[in-house]
Amino acid sequence: MVAHGKQAPPDAAAETTHFGAETVAAADKAGRVAEVFDSVAGRYDLMNDVMSGGLHRAWKASLIDSIRPRPGMRVLDVAGGTGDIAFRILDRVKAGFPGQSAEVTVLDVNAQMLAQGRERATRRGHDGAIAWIEGNAEDLPVPDGSVDVYTIAFGIRNVTHIDAALAEAARVLAPGGRFFALEFSKLAIPGLDKLYDAYSFQVIPRLGQLIAGDGDAYRYLVESIRRFPDQEAFAALMREAGLKRVGWRNLAGGIVALHSAWKL
Ligand SMILES: C[S@@+](CC[C@H](N)C(=O)[O-])C[C@H]1O[C@@H](n2cnc3c(N)ncnc32)[C@H](O)[C@@H]1O
Repeated sequence: MVAHGKQAPPDAAAETTHFGAETVAAADKAGRVAEVFDSVAGRYDLMNDVMSGGLHRAWKASLIDSIRPRPGMRVLDVAGGTGDIAFRILDRVKAGFPGQSAEVTVLDVNAQMLAQGRERATRRGHDGAIAWIEGNAEDLPVPDGSVDVYTIAFGIRNVTHIDAALAEAARVLAPGGRFFALEFSKLAIPGLDKLYDAYSFQVIPRLGQLIAGDGDAYRYLVESIRRFPDQEAFAALMREAGLKRVGWRNLAGGIVALHSAWKL
């Protein structure tokens, strides 16, 4: 697991970054990530279920429990893709407060993922309840202090400049607002790493090829997990961005961590 620490300034001419296991020019990473999600958008949700054995649903449910969605809450779900987090927030409000809703915005850099999300919203009866924005986590088209809850689920590791994305999260949150990031992290159960590696590197790319027709895309996803900062290193980046009361909770023994913080 490689911890990045502070990243190089975005305007450095020779700036490089990682794209999975590869080192690439920082300016190229967003395009490479876009190719991955363009390729898998149509099968993304099915792959999530197959790859995690349905566990991603429990991880996302933990995120929603922590948010405690309420009517009128202004939620910005960054890298929101096909809308999974947004739907769960709206469903939770509807269940607890019949006839009421939250103000949910899904922002993602990939138009194809958003298109899938809009179709799913229609099928689930959420038409008109969500604002869909094509945009970059590093430069949010959202006013300062206008958001009660910022979420990013399995998205932050795809962003080129994590520090810029965290600074943007801190900027758009209102005082008293909450930050949540759900992300793959460092397995904290000794002895399971060999099995986890074998599943990640041998099985997942094959499933990706079989189901989404793109083994390389899923090889990137697995490699990007290994390159992402571990629990402590990501918490340090959150603190550097000015977020307060930073913490995390391991899920599935640290395969995933739910990071949280406050804007004070
Ligand atoms: C693994 S998917 C997660 C989707 C959704 N949050 C979920 O949990 O199902 C990662 C998403 O991050 C988006 N993404 C990657 N880089 C981004 C960026 N810089 N800004 C916004 N979205 C980005 C991708 O387009 C993709 O939809």
